[in-house]
Amino acid sequence: MFKALILGAAAGGGLPQWNCGCENCNLARTGQIPSSTQSSLAVTMDGTSWVILNASPDIRTQISANPGLHPRSLRDTPIAGVLLTNGDIDHVAGLLSLREGQPFSLYATGEIHEVLAANPLMQAVNPEHVPRVPIALDEPVTLLPDLTATLFSVPGKVPLYMEGETVQTDLEGEQTTGVHLQAGGRDIYYIPGCAAVTDRLARRLRGADMVFFDGTLWRDDEMLAMGLSHKTGRRMGHISMSGRDGSISALQDLGIGRKIYIHMNNSNPVLRPASPERAEAESAGWTIGQDGMEITV
Ligand code: MLT
Ligand code: MN
Ligand code: ZN
Repeated sequence: MFKALILGAAAGGGLPQWNCGCENCNLARTGQIPSSTQSSLAVTMDGTSWVILNASPDIRTQISANPGLHPRSLRDTPIAGVLLTNGDIDHVAGLLSLREGQPFSLYATGEIHEVLAANPLMQAVNPEHVPRVPIALDEPVTLLPDLTATLFSVPGKVPLYMEGETVQTDLEGEQTTGVHLQAGGRDIYYIPGCAAVTDRLARRLRGADMVFFDGTLWRDDEMLAMGLSHKTGRRMGHISMSGRDGSISALQDLGIGRKIYIHMNNSNPVLRPASPERAEAESAGWTIGQDGMEITV
């Protein structure tokens, strides 16, 4: 049976973010709303062997918090592999915490492997023990017995630290991908970063059993309105939940079994369980992901 475990439901920065005094971050600091670590999902078929989708900077605490990921002998891990959907810091920095000579496979597109290979720090995750496995777009690979993953491009941009003078925010290529997991006849999608739901993406998601989707912002101008940043969601390569072009509307009539938001920025009002925005998302059939949430299909 396929099981997904949300290791971290927050976007980069987490909730609370170290330097953020916004309402949500303060509520999380005082325990009035749940805190949340950064973007990562663990998947398994047998509860024994796991693959981690995106290695967040919080991976050490995430592994500690989840007994299924603990070593079973002197030097050991149930983590057979790590798959990256892009090269963003909130998805790759955790690799540096997995550098203790422990073998596992590292899956990503060729372009993302190139980005990592260009960074000498990443050599600390020794390729002799951690083979780099390039995944071609739209070609299934076996992650675990009975579990395949197919990476496909979704609109997005290059990682923030690779941005040049001008940035294309709806780039479709190997830099920003979604994952189609196929497990025992079930179709599960994991898309933590996505700038827009194109017709092609909507067709792909139609009838899926479960979709984990980019929940970064509620409103495109949310961070500007709160005085947190000069960037819109669009500029960051993230579609918003609400509005005519938002993900609630775009995924509304696709016959998707379960819809779960992940990668939520700490500014997002849905992180407050009693907020009207949360009620609106839930009444549209969405679950707001939370650290430690387990979903079986
Ligand atoms: C994003 O999701 O937009 C990135 O994680 C931003 C970042 O790298 O901080
Ligand atoms: Mn991110
Ligand atoms: Zn904040």
